Amino acid sequence: MYQENAKKQFELLQNKKDAVILGVESSCDETAAAVVRGGRFVLSNIIASQIDIHRRFGGVVPEVASRNHTLALPAIIDEALKAANITSKELDAVAVTYGAGLIGALLVGVSAAKAYAYAIDKPLIAVNHIEAHVAANYISHPTLTPPFVALVASGGHTLLLDIPDYNGYELLGGTLDDALGEAFDKVARTVGLPYPGGPNVERMAKAGKADIAFYKHAKGVRSDLALSYSGLKTAVVNYVHTLRQKGEEIPVADICASFTQEAVELLAKTTVEAVKRAGRTRLVLAGGVASNGDLRAALEREGNAHGFSVSYPPPVLCTDNAAMVASRAYFMARGNIGLVGLDLNAKSHLTFGAHL
Ligand code: KG4
Ligand code: ZN
Repeated sequence: MYQENAKKQFELLQNKKDAVILGVESSCDETAAAVVRGGRFVLSNIIASQIDIHRRFGGVVPEVASRNHTLALPAIIDEALKAANITSKELDAVAVTYGAGLIGALLVGVSAAKAYAYAIDKPLIAVNHIEAHVAANYISHPTLTPPFVALVASGGHTLLLDIPDYNGYELLGGTLDDALGEAFDKVARTVGLPYPGGPNVERMAKAGKADIAFYKHAKGVRSDLALSYSGLKTAVVNYVHTLRQKGEEIPVADICASFTQEAVELLAKTTVEAVKRAGRTRLVLAGGVASNGDLRAALEREGNAHGFSVSYPPPVLCTDNAAMVASRAYFMARGNIGLVGLDLNAKSHLTFGAHL
């Protein structure tokens, strides 16, 4: 009965320009719920960060994250509806991140969203976290339409994607090993900066000189547009260990500035090549690392030099949030994809563009 109803309601969403969707996000350490109208207009965006809880461990502890999602999520969903000033009856659908991410953390959001969709008798839409990050740009740039190239740089992914239309994703390149955000976090830990590393490395880099060469040889853009951060990360770790062994002072600010420069320069050059290959004139940035000012500046500089525009969401929509999940679900529903049943399961690994 629920399933038939949900299917009928979902079909109507293809032509509903002002559909109101509740998004739920719990893939890592942010518990979030948001209400978005028409894929672009945020009615509420509630984020309960667990940063303070995980800081004492120096990083996200998956089991602790799951437990805290369980504690926080029901109240966060209520708060999102209240802040949006709507009742559950006014929702057209419920959307949830079902992957990629920490499996236990994802399961909490998936279970809550299933229960909620069933309770209010509304369709449930399964959203891919990477695709949601890209969709954050539809919120911050209300006139943005595909085609464009997206650079998704987060704690778990560093990908260059061609986005020909709202529901199309083609891989152009990306990291072969660590994600850029992971490298930022590791560098932060190595030099003794607290979790989350990225924003702290950015802050310290401002006070430093980028005069340490961690790469022994200058790296060029690879023909397959592949990137790698594990070598750079290890080079920073070795550099710091050597200084410690010698009892020398660690030049934290200079390390942060130099690491950022080397990480960002090659990424910017590789991104230029990706935009050229895809034949696009627009680049959008997405994911937590997209809030990094040095990365933004490098890509804007390349965009000016090579004739493509660059846009990115404000920091609160770069890092994990549920507004981007609701936005992504809206464009899926318009394309008649993404409806799932109550048997939806979480997936720790998920490629983009393959919808349920
Ligand atoms: O997208 P996100 O919130 O979660 C994942 O999906 O992974 O990204 C989190 C990552 C973390 O590695 C964090 O250190 C990094 O984004 N990050 C930054 C900045 N803000 C967040 N990295 C560099 N500079 C920043 N300002
Ligand atoms: Zn994310």
